[in-house]
Amino acid sequence: MNLQQRDQKHLWHPLKQHQLSPESLAIVKAKGCVLTDEHGNEYIDAISSWYTCIFGHCNEYITRKVSRQMQQLDQVMFSDFTHEPAVKLSEELIKMLPQGQNRIFFNDNGSTAVEASIKMALQYHFNRGEQRTILIAFEEGFHGDTFGAMSVSGLSIYNGPFKDVLMEVKRIPVPNGENEHEILERLQKYICNNDVAGFIYEPLVQGAAGMKIHDANGMNSILQFCKTNGIITIADEVMTGFGKTGTHFASDHIATKPDIICLSKALTAGLLPMAITSCTEAIYAAFLSDDITKGFFHCHTYSANPIACSAALAGIELLQTEEIQKNLKQIAAAHAAFASKIRLHPKVKSARHIGVIFALDLNVTTERYGSLRDQLLKFFMQRGVFLRPLGNTIYLQVPYVITKEELSKVYKVVRASLDII
Ligand SMILES: Cc1ncc(COP(=O)(O)O)c(C=O)c1O
Repeated sequence: MNLQQRDQKHLWHPLKQHQLSPESLAIVKAKGCVLTDEHGNEYIDAISSWYTCIFGHCNEYITRKVSRQMQQLDQVMFSDFTHEPAVKLSEELIKMLPQGQNRIFFNDNGSTAVEASIKMALQYHFNRGEQRTILIAFEEGFHGDTFGAMSVSGLSIYNGPFKDVLMEVKRIPVPNGENEHEILERLQKYICNNDVAGFIYEPLVQGAAGMKIHDANGMNSILQFCKTNGIITIADEVMTGFGKTGTHFASDHIATKPDIICLSKALTAGLLPMAITSCTEAIYAAFLSDDITKGFFHCHTYSANPIACSAALAGIELLQTEEIQKNLKQIAAAHAAFASKIRLHPKVKSARHIGVIFALDLNVTTERYGSLRDQLLKFFMQRGVFLRPLGNTIYLQVPYVITKEELSKVYKVVRASLDII
């Protein structure tokens, strides 16, 4: 039996209807931008394995640092203990995070980073004796699969079965440059009982919604409104963090900075699972008290795992190198050129890009997990490119070390896929 066959005996994969498609491709090796399957076929990883491996797979600089850390200190509980990798990572992150962030709290993944951010916002008000329990979020947002994260996400196949047991959340549309007045009016209505605790948003790009890009000025007005009305602002930078939009964080494009930021995915450059919820000193201060119950009693066993911290530190070093910053600019310019051409194609409804993110919407209506998506995925894989369309959106989020030849091949295959629609 090969790997693919053995897999089907005991494994349960995420985001999959096993009855309809039981098989999963067995990957045996990954290096740079290339994944290799058990039959020796190669695929360019044009979505950086769910937006994580920004410096390519098995990056030698990062694996060397991680391997050194593994021999020094592997794991120690982070309640009562501390260690150099966590301290150093907090120092480095605070230097690069948007202005105002001053505290680093560790989690395991994007969903738990969001979960902690929601709990921070709720307990912030609770500790101050205020009854604020309602959250505001964008329509079509995606923040993860734990209960708080599902609550603030827009309704979809992910949270549909649980909709009756989610938290109370009010929705606003994303700012599109024309609807600011309508959004502010809606917000004004929502706050009439003074019970809104926080507003969570994916800054500038809604990933799971199909890499939808929204308006930075409108975003700024919403954040200003929240600040004026004591609503804690939470930027979910799980997808956008660490260079994806051309700046270190998408919040860098927006004048008003958030109170809390959620980070994961590229944080550890795809090597190990880890996440962070950072916040301002003002949020942290609301948890300081002689009363122990006002502390933040939220913890994950592997909080601040030293090996994961060492991967993050190595990634941050790479991100700030001239070479990577130059690559980011070159990829952004290549995306801009490709977008300007491809958007003229009759099968393309629209094309957009920011930083290393590129997306086009096809001129067809289809289900998110419909047959067109399967057909396209197969087409891309047969041509050696791993891309994972979302409904009628084909998107790229390439590693920052992709070569010119690899990127040209990705564009060529995307262009060719339009002929099968
Ligand atoms: C913006 C955003 N937030 C949260 C998450 C959840 O992260 P995780 O899958 O690591 O739980 C994701 C995952 O795609 C995401 O894109």
